[in-house]
Amino acid sequence: MVTKTNFGAYALYTIEAGELAVSITTLGATVTSLRFRGRECVPGYDSPEGYLGGTAYLGAAIGRYGNRIALARFTLGGKECMLPANEGPNQLHGGPNSYDKREWSAEVLDDAVRFTLSSPDGDNGFPGALSAAVTYSVRGGTLRLDFEGDSDADTVYAPTSHMYFDLSGRENCREAELQVNASHYLEVDAGLIPTEVTPVEGTRFDFRSARKIGQAYDHCFVLDGETACVLCDGGVRMTLSTDLPALQVYTGEFLPAPFKPFGAVALEPESFPDSPNRPDFPSTVLRAGEHFHRWAEYRFETV
Ligand code: BGC
Repeated sequence: MVTKTNFGAYALYTIEAGELAVSITTLGATVTSLRFRGRECVPGYDSPEGYLGGTAYLGAAIGRYGNRIALARFTLGGKECMLPANEGPNQLHGGPNSYDKREWSAEVLDDAVRFTLSSPDGDNGFPGALSAAVTYSVRGGTLRLDFEGDSDADTVYAPTSHMYFDLSGRENCREAELQVNASHYLEVDAGLIPTEVTPVEGTRFDFRSARKIGQAYDHCFVLDGETACVLCDGGVRMTLSTDLPALQVYTGEFLPAPFKPFGAVALEPESFPDSPNRPDFPSTVLRAGEHFHRWAEYRFETV
C-alpha cells in the first residue's frame, strides 16, 4: 500500500508492505524513515528545512556522482569537464545543490514509487542531459532500489543511496556488528581520494567475519560479490545486496544535531570514487543511448 502526504512544500510517499514501512520524499528522493516492525532504523529530519540546510546527505539519492572526483575535473572523449568543487579542491556527491537538494517527480506503482529527475546538459559541469530514476519497492522484509539513467551524450553516472542505519535505536553505530564481503578496500589520501586497491588481510578493514564496527571509518570497500554486507544490532539484521562494485562505510562522526556523532552508519552501494580519473577502476561512463540500470536490496529480519 502506498499513501501520499505533505512534507512542507514537497510530497511524502509511504510504502507499507509486510513488516516494513518506508517513507520517501520528492525532496532528493530521500528516505526520511524506514520502520521495521515499528522500529525506526533510518534517521531523518521531520521537515524539509533539515535536508535543505544539511550536509550529511541523510537518506538521499545521490547524483550524478556518488563520492569524490579528484580536483573536480575529468576528461571524457578528449574534452576536459570542470566541475564546481564542494569539498576543498574536490567534488563530493555531485557538487553543490545537487540531486539530493532537488525536487523529483514521483509515480506510484504497485507497493513501489518511481522518482525521476531531469538533469540538464552541463548540470554541475557534467556533460549530457540525463534522465535519472530511482524506484523504491517493498516486498516482504525487503526494500529494493533500482537506479536507472539515460543520457543524450556521453557522460559519467554513479548514483548511490545515502541511508544511515541505526537498527537498535541506541544511536551508537560503533556497537553494531558488521560483516563486509570485501577482501580489498581503497586506501585514500588526506582528501579521501583513492590511492590504491589494498588487501584487507591483517588490517582494521578486515570485516570478512562479523565484528563490532568499533571505530571510525569513511572508506570504500571493493565487493567480492552481490551480498555486500550484513549489519546486526538490537536484534535486527539487515543484509545489503547490490550489483554495484563497491560499498562506502561511513560511521557518521560528523552527523549534525539533533543526531549524535557516530549515531548511525551510512552504507552506500556505489561505484569506485574518482573512477573518471582512474582508467584502472571499473568504468562509470554512460554512453549516449545506453540504458543504465543498477540495483540494491536491503533485507530486514529479526534475530
Ligand atoms: C562521505 C563522507 C561525508 C559524508 C556526509 C560520505 O559519503 O564519504 O566523507 O562526510 O558522506 O557528507
